[in-house]
Amino acid sequence: MDNPLLKPYLLGDLALPNRIVMAPLTRTRAANPGHVPTALMGEYYAQRASAGLIISEGAWVSEAGQGWHGAPGIYDEVQGAAWARVTAAVRERGGRIFAQLWHQGAISHSSFFTDARLPLSASAINPEQQVHLAGGLVRTETPQAMTVADIVQTIADYRHASRIAKDAGFDGVQIQAGFLYLINQFLNVSTNQRTDRYGGSIPNRARLLFDILDAVLEVWPSERVGVKTGPMTNELGLFVANSSTLATAEYVYAKLNEYQLSHVFVMRQMADLSATPLAALAGDAVIVHFRAIYSGTMILNVGINPVHARELAAHDDRILVAFGREYIANPDLVERIRVGAVLNDQRPAGYYGSSPEGYTDYPFLPEEPPTILPKSGEAVLP
Ligand SMILES: Cc1cc2nc3c(=O)[nH]c(=O)nc-3n(C[C@H](O)[C@H](O)[C@H](O)COP(=O)(O)O)c2cc1C
Repeated sequence: MDNPLLKPYLLGDLALPNRIVMAPLTRTRAANPGHVPTALMGEYYAQRASAGLIISEGAWVSEAGQGWHGAPGIYDEVQGAAWARVTAAVRERGGRIFAQLWHQGAISHSSFFTDARLPLSASAINPEQQVHLAGGLVRTETPQAMTVADIVQTIADYRHASRIAKDAGFDGVQIQAGFLYLINQFLNVSTNQRTDRYGGSIPNRARLLFDILDAVLEVWPSERVGVKTGPMTNELGLFVANSSTLATAEYVYAKLNEYQLSHVFVMRQMADLSATPLAALAGDAVIVHFRAIYSGTMILNVGINPVHARELAAHDDRILVAFGREYIANPDLVERIRVGAVLNDQRPAGYYGSSPEGYTDYPFLPEEPPTILPKSGEAVLP
């Protein structure tokens, strides 16, 4: 077999049949009052079970962590029982799945909360982003700055959600510490103006992440815990890279290197970096940069097609490649990569839909044509 993506990989103590990962993808098929995963979600993930590893869509660690209409939670027993049906469906098809633990912080809205309270974040600073409500996109509000008691509660919420994920039969968890969400609102100096031990210096801004990681590690062995983090965001609002963005990410990667984690999940650029302090990290430069700091397994992601993925995997034996949008459109992506088949077209209108359309109806490659057996009496050709 010459495609290195199709070689087995030992991720900690978890044997993967290939190096192709399904990236975490919010698909909003849990639009019910309890934020409970649905049977349709089980079908969707089971369709994709041939991935070396599935990372679930972001799942909120608490009611306070919510902020996207239709996304699921992983903080109560009902949600846990429903996730257990999802993990069982994946396992039945021979797959492996990690839960992505998510707290949206300020990327939320008072209308999500029964008492209309403002979302929580590091500081009372509007990150100037968009939020997905039931009725469409709205601007973020100015959040409430978390008290130390809120922080302590949030760390406990991650521990609790980790336990629910374990009881639900997940193979591990990934902490979403990147992009625009709570942990990155603490890491980012533009959204974190705290003057206590969770703000100011880089170690202080990173403290929430490492406190959360330590809490998660009380439940899971380190080789079953991954972290998604890095300097890349959408380069909009208060998430435009600043003079501390790269140094902060370097500090985080160096410290993560001390844990024997399952993986770090590395995003390539998601926006034009040319006028930013991250310009030198465009394209694959970000991978090279962080590989020099982090020596464990890296799952690489963003805008990587199967040909590029193969080159990356050939170059470094400790990398896996995650596909996001291609996994939305190709449930049998591994098989398509194996045979070099054309990929299905994307239907972005269904990304955040509410039905099977654009979700579980993407076609698989046709089955091999059935062998036609000779009629009795006909000669059987050698
Ligand atoms: C519809 C959609 C939903 C996403 N939801 C999540 C999510 O829940 N958690 C997360 O960390 N990233 C999320 N992402 C980012 C993807 O994991 C991935 O990084 C992105 O699609 C880029 O990879 P790609 O170029 O292979 O699609 C989402 C992306 C898309 C398109």
